Amino acid sequence: PVIKVAALCGSVRKGSFNRSLIHSAIEISKESIKGMEIVYIDISPLPMLNTDLEVDGTFPPVVEVFRKKILEADSILFASPEYNYSITAPLKNAIDWASRPPNCWADKAAAILSASGGSGGARSHYHLRQIGVFVDLHFINKPEFFLNVFQPPSKFDSNGKLVDAEVKEKLKGVLLALHAFSLRLQTKHLK
Ligand code: FNR
Repeated sequence: PVIKVAALCGSVRKGSFNRSLIHSAIEISKESIKGMEIVYIDISPLPMLNTDLEVDGTFPPVVEVFRKKILEADSILFASPEYNYSITAPLKNAIDWASRPPNCWADKAAAILSASGGSGGARSHYHLRQIGVFVDLHFINKPEFFLNVFQPPSKFDSNGKLVDAEVKEKLKGVLLALHAFSLRLQTKHLK
């Protein structure tokens, strides 16, 4: 079976390092991981959550489209910077929209990447994992992936593309673990 992965970026700015990690992940999976398809999902068109926008169980069209993409995915790959020791507001907003009943996240496997300041976004991972408890996402525990983008030399080239071989290898390790765990979850459902 092909594991379909929805990749979400917590930063909506054009030159986002975290989105660059997702593009690298897509490249790596195409080149070297059989049975895994990663699709980038842009969360920037989502309005700020407001339950007044829900009418008789329907959502604004962009929200409906987003929720459908999450529902159809087997697994989720998050790549987000840390903002003030937590995940970003755009990412929380996206998670909240797809958590409105019926919850679109339930029982999916997930993994976290972060490119951020000093600690590489490590602290935000625990907030994201905590949210995952309620929305019923199953995060892989290891390997962990944090990348400090302020520490020279840069791991990205002048176009913002990830070029560091060691970091790419780490990223591949996360993808392999997510793939294996997604298969395990599917097997569980077949029993
Ligand atoms: C940050 N940044 C940041 N970095 C960090 O390691 N810990 C933090 O708590 C914060 N807090 C924070 C708050 C706000 C409002 C901003 C805008 C930034 C720095 C941030 O991680 C860095 O700019 C990343 O490069 C942003 O990721 P993208 O946009 O390149 O994907």
